[in-house]
Amino acid sequence: MTSTTFLGDNKNRFIDELIDFLKIPSISADPDKSDDMAQAAEWLECKLAEAGIEKTKIFATEGHPIVYAEKRINDELPTVLVYGHYDVQPPEPLELWESPPFEPKIKNQKIYARGACDDKGQMYMHVKALETLITTKNLPCNVKVLIEGEEEVGSSNLEGFLRQHTSMLSADVILISDTSIISNDCPSITSALRGISYIEVELKGPSRDLHSGVYGGAIANPINTLTKLIANLTNDKGKITLEGFYDDVAELTTEQREKLNREFNLEAYKKELGIKDVFGESGFNTLERTGIRPSLDVNGIWGGYTGVGAKTVLPSKANAKISCRLVPNQSSDHITSLLKDYFESNCPKHSTVEVTVLQGGEPIIVPTDSPGYMAAELAFQEVWGKKPVPTREGGSIPIVAMFKKVLGLDSIMMGFGLDSDAIHSPNESFGIFNYLKGIETITVYYQKFTKLYQTK
Ligand code: BES
Ligand code: MN
Ligand code: MN
Repeated sequence: MTSTTFLGDNKNRFIDELIDFLKIPSISADPDKSDDMAQAAEWLECKLAEAGIEKTKIFATEGHPIVYAEKRINDELPTVLVYGHYDVQPPEPLELWESPPFEPKIKNQKIYARGACDDKGQMYMHVKALETLITTKNLPCNVKVLIEGEEEVGSSNLEGFLRQHTSMLSADVILISDTSIISNDCPSITSALRGISYIEVELKGPSRDLHSGVYGGAIANPINTLTKLIANLTNDKGKITLEGFYDDVAELTTEQREKLNREFNLEAYKKELGIKDVFGESGFNTLERTGIRPSLDVNGIWGGYTGVGAKTVLPSKANAKISCRLVPNQSSDHITSLLKDYFESNCPKHSTVEVTVLQGGEPIIVPTDSPGYMAAELAFQEVWGKKPVPTREGGSIPIVAMFKKVLGLDSIMMGFGLDSDAIHSPNESFGIFNYLKGIETITVYYQKFTKLYQTK
């Protein structure tokens, strides 16, 4: 039987299985969900075994388990290492979901659920592609599968795991579906991701909450102080004013920038996001702002009274979570220390500040002339009828830089999501067209990669 026939015959089952998987609330950030995390890992291991991969194993870590599987055909053949994650982001705010996040629902040819796209749906495409290739006896090379449960919380245990298992994980290329394509009419391959520096700041003032009339005007308000410090990190031209922040940013030549500038519909972009205008670093367009330039965002800020009505209070402390997205050749440790120093040295005498480092990850660029990348181009060309363009995406997958550093391997980021899938947001979805087409593209990838590898 051909892979295409098998795919056609089994597509409803492939969708049903994904729906079952999406029912497990595998929220890595939530300590109460560790049983669900374990259950998701076991479910996945079972599906990998059912797909025809004899060797499967769950590795316990200090955090959530890692699922591993391996099918060796012949040592002469190349090995593809598939990476993905089974953990998802917290679904809050729940009231904005049209159907509950862990009760998957199909509407308008899309599956709605937390993790539908990021990354359960995209990762499960690989399991189904492998099942297809193995069952139809078309798997052309060796394959290893590495699926973690801590991507959304920074992959902190995976780095050590890579170092401990370098020989088990040896491969010729890494294949990942955890990014997006431009649109279903314009397929693309992610050639770069931004890195990240993530801190939490706590700014303390008086030892207790105070009456804002009795003390207001005489005591510094921690929220006022913290927001001012944050405001001073950027200017109204969209530049980050933190001293030294841009020092290591690789500037692209005009020619390189022109190459990146594919067609982009700014009006549609604004409309989809419900905004009247975009805002970002002056001198750069929207694609450049997310693709080749760093950014700084407050992800959350809290303090004082936020309940109903007016309570007159001068709070004793204020907190914020702040992240920077980084580009080559910025280093996440360096940017984190610049941020930490900024808050510590600019905090006025009337207050105290404490900075906690939450996450770090390096930016990455993947060469577009390797057999691994070219195989992805050929696979898209064959299945989508169009040559995919390389795109630099603004999100981060910190382990990709670690794969390069520790295993010496390039990651081919062949994602099939759309920006409109609303990953990390309420009503996340994944198009059934993308899911099925993704499975098919992955099966073709194996053929193309094995051929290119053998003739290289
Ligand atoms: N899959 C995303 C990253 C992504 C999304 C890359 C879309 C490119 C396009 C991943 O699951 C993610 O959300 N990563 C986090 C990393 C963080 C937790 C260290 C991110 O980018 O915020
Ligand atoms: Mn992801
Ligand atoms: Mn994510």
